[in-house]
Formats: sequence, structure tokens, C-alpha cells
Amino acid sequence: MPANLMTKKDMKELAAEAAGSAAEGGNPRVKEVTERLLYRVMQVIDECDVTMDEFWAAVGFIAKAAKNNEFGLLVPGVALEHFLDLRLDEADKRAGIGGGTVRTIEGPLYVAGAPLSKGEARMDDGTDPGEVFIISGQVTDEAGRPIPNAIVDIWHANSKGGYSFIDGEQAPYNLRRRIQTGDDGRYLARSIVPNGYGCPPESATRELMGLLGRHAERPAHVHYFVSAPGHRTLTTQFNFTGDKYLHTDFAFGTRDELIVTLDRVTDPAQIRDAGLNRPFARATFDVVLTKETATAPKTVVEREHVIAA
Ligand code: DHB
Ligand code: FE
Repeated sequence: MPANLMTKKDMKELAAEAAGSAAEGGNPRVKEVTERLLYRVMQVIDECDVTMDEFWAAVGFIAKAAKNNEFGLLVPGVALEHFLDLRLDEADKRAGIGGGTVRTIEGPLYVAGAPLSKGEARMDDGTDPGEVFIISGQVTDEAGRPIPNAIVDIWHANSKGGYSFIDGEQAPYNLRRRIQTGDDGRYLARSIVPNGYGCPPESATRELMGLLGRHAERPAHVHYFVSAPGHRTLTTQFNFTGDKYLHTDFAFGTRDELIVTLDRVTDPAQIRDAGLNRPFARATFDVVLTKETATAPKTVVEREHVIAA
């Protein structure tokens, strides 16, 4: 069939009717968004002459993603989670807010309720053969003043790129910790250098990436939520210089300001001073939080999170 069989007017009217624009009741916000969404879907179908077979293949794809509970993976893969960050960045800019640590996506693999400790934590349970990793940093305000009692909630993959709880192979909350900063705003985490994460082999997300000619891999990264009373909660991550996937992250999470360089420590005296018995890697990740105000765009995201038993 040819493309562009329909008039804009006909599509607009049908979308409006389907979205209940003439119906009383319902939720006005849902109606507004549904109407615009349907209109745009109709336009795409008509412009691209999407066949019925293609349409139902797409419905099947969405059903598969839903059955696998994969929407949280799909959304970053098609850049929409990053897009939400870009919008929030712009809203901050227009509100005159700047100077804090740059945000980036949460991703789908957070587990709430990780063990909480003061000042420092060991994140790994000692079974991962990967490289020991010491992360240290300071949480400050925009003026550089330390923020005591900030909660630094850190989670990352193991040396195989797997996340505890999600991969079903690790102890609950392995590589997931909340650290409360000391009076000097500092935190210290002992962990294992993570590997990059790849979408599961049979996932709908990986299948889509294949159809788009893209890979389904993320560079190694460490996730953070940082919160403190009177300050805006920050969702961010850091990556590592030299990572193969650093600039092609399938989830669009890499940001130039969030790339750290691993310092490899091999000097026996330094290894001893760190209380270790083998070479290790270390990195610094300092965090600057912006002030909470009545008019600042909201940064706390209400989103379903699992809690490990
Ligand atoms: C995905 C995985 C991650 O570890 C992450 O941080 C973001 C996204 C994903 O599978 O989409
Ligand atoms: Fe991740």
C-alpha cells in the first residue's frame, strides 16, 4: 500500500475520540497524553506504511518485553531514560541551578534497603575473584562545605557484570551498600572492580538492539543515589577511562563529567598501609549536592523498587 493514505484531520479526530476527549469523567492528564500519543502512533503507521504484519510483530515484541518485566531495560536502551535526564538538566538550568555533580540514569537494577553503615563499608562478600577496589570521596555543597550524614547509596555489578538479586547468583545485597558520611562529609567503600553489564541473551531489549544494528552492552559503572537533608537527591554513576564501551553505552548513561581514572596500586608499602595483601585499584568520586528549595525541579523519582528479603 502507499504511505500517507490518511489526512491529519482524520487521525487527530480518531485519536481524540479514542482518548475520551468528548467523554465526561476519566483522568484529564491521562486523556491528554493518550490523545497525543495515539495521534503520533497513527502518523508513524501512515507515514511508514506499517503493514498489519509489522504492527502485530511490534505488539508481540511489547508483550514479550512485558512478560520478561523488561521495560526498565528497554527504556534506557532507546535513550528515553537519558532523555528524561536531559529535560531535568534543562529545567535546572532555567531555574538557575548549576554547579552540582551531573546526574545520569538510575537504570533498572537498584534494590532498596541495602545495609547502612557509618563512614565506610565493605561492599563485597569476599567471594568475587576480581580486583579489590577502594572508592573514596567527599560529599559537599556548592560552596565546598562538607555535608555530614549524607546517605551515599552505592550499587554495582560484580567482576562478571552481574548484579546481586537480579542474577540470582550472589548473596543478597552483595555490592549494594548505604554509607552515611562522617562529619567531614567523607565516605569510603571497599569493593571489587565491576565489569560492564550486557543485556541478557534472550531479552527483548537485546533483540531490538540487534535489529537496530547496535550492541547491548554497558561500560563498567558504579551507581549512586546521594541524599542529605536540605539538599536535592542526586542520581548518578561513574565510569572508567579506557573502557571499551565508554562512548557507546547502549543505555546512554556515560557523561564526560562522570569518568574516573582507576589508580592501580602495586607498591607493597601502600598495599600494606591499605590493610591489603595484593595489588588493588582505587578511585575518588566526590559529590556536590545542590540546595533544596521550594521552586527547584524535583529530583526524587517515585519508581517501583524491589527489596531483597
Ligand atoms: C541497564 C542496565 C544497567 O546496569 C544500567 O545501569 C542501566 C540500564 C539495562 O539493562 O537497560
Ligand atoms: Fe547498572
